[in-house]
Amino acid sequence: MKYTFPAGFWWGSASSALQTEGESQHGGKSQTTWDVWFARQPWRFHQGIGPDETSTFYQHWQQDIALLKQLNHNSFRTSISWSRLIPDGTGEVNPEAVIFYNTVIDELLAQGITPFITLFHFDMPMVMQEKGGWENRDVVAAFARYADTCFRLFGNRVKHWFTFNEPIVPVEGGYLYDFHYPNVVDFRRAATVAYHTVLAHASAVRLFRAGRYEGEIGIVLNLTPSYPRSDNPADVNAAHCADLLFNRSFLDPVLRGQYPQDLVELLKQYDQLPLCEPGDSALIADGKIDLLGINYYQPRRVKCRDSAVNPDAPFMPEWLFDHYDMPGRQMNPYRGWEIYPPGIYDILTNLRVNYNNPRCFISENGMGVENEARFINNGKINDEYRIDFISNHLAWLHKGISEGCQCLGYHMWTFIDNWSWCNGYKNRYGFVQLDLSTQQRIVKKSGEWFSAVAASNSFDK
Ligand code: NOJ
Repeated sequence: MKYTFPAGFWWGSASSALQTEGESQHGGKSQTTWDVWFARQPWRFHQGIGPDETSTFYQHWQQDIALLKQLNHNSFRTSISWSRLIPDGTGEVNPEAVIFYNTVIDELLAQGITPFITLFHFDMPMVMQEKGGWENRDVVAAFARYADTCFRLFGNRVKHWFTFNEPIVPVEGGYLYDFHYPNVVDFRRAATVAYHTVLAHASAVRLFRAGRYEGEIGIVLNLTPSYPRSDNPADVNAAHCADLLFNRSFLDPVLRGQYPQDLVELLKQYDQLPLCEPGDSALIADGKIDLLGINYYQPRRVKCRDSAVNPDAPFMPEWLFDHYDMPGRQMNPYRGWEIYPPGIYDILTNLRVNYNNPRCFISENGMGVENEARFINNGKINDEYRIDFISNHLAWLHKGISEGCQCLGYHMWTFIDNWSWCNGYKNRYGFVQLDLSTQQRIVKKSGEWFSAVAASNSFDK
């Protein structure tokens, strides 16, 4: 069957500043939490590789943008680094950073590639973390000022802005499950961090509207459809709780301008509501977006907790549900994540039916593969599995569009094998293979395939 996409469909890929730029301690940039954490605990990072060892986009931007062009990208998402642009978090702008980001934006545009810019992709400046990070309400205003600085400096050319990338991840990683700095495990603090992130998002949206900048503003959320393990009402309710905590805690504020009442009740029931101030509801209502980026990797298979909860232990989501991998599901054999392409269709349908069909696009979808060099054939990685992965997801996405979903594009994670949070280069995701020691770039088979799909706006399967 031939799948053809609407005219003007966005084809591209996504990346982020810290994962690709390199020069993480140079060019006037200050440290992020990642730089500091790596210096303190290098053993927590795969093979002891930290955020300074990247594909060095800071130097290779021209070559990489030429490669994006070769892959027929019409759009590309990356982020601006707060700690590079405003090294002390709140003060002077770093002129070297302005030159760098101007150059990148101008070169993308010169090559016919629309820049999509994220403002915060997990990279908290250490100076702001020292003030409490997202736990401190003052950081909200500092972020909004940084966002407005970006709109002012680059808004005459950047027309697609995203306040946050996957804002639930720093909450889970940094404050619930110990896979990001500051390695806190405390639900109440996590809830505060999530709440302040929503306020920071809404404050940036307000400034964007007030400044009458051209273009649109959105957010990128990782949506994990929560499927109950069975029809048992307890499992159905557990899946609903997982959805409230990990999807709708951001989705509802940015699309409906308010939190789901069920989530408020749930947090109240366990006495975990964050502190609110007068005016917060109006601010959150102003945070409604123009465009939603959806990162989709895998669903959540949820079942009710088997064992009783210790009433003396501090509240954690695990009081409500157990994560459950459904036996018999197709798993990514190279990484261990479930592969479930219909999830993309379910997300889009849910948005169409329950959220008034917002403008959206797939801002990330992709497949991480361990030891990918074993698939080299005639000098290039023959990643048929990735072509299958992408085309299966695209087929479901196509079905969603044919039923009326406003999905405007598909960006793959990622353009070039990049540094991953704690995992370093363990799982390779790129269309382009990176040799870290020589910085050589070789397009994989999937890159060639994608390039043809983007050029024809269609594919056969
Ligand atoms: C989501 C994140 O946005 C990105 O930074 C990360 O590397 C990929 N997923 C792959 O896990």
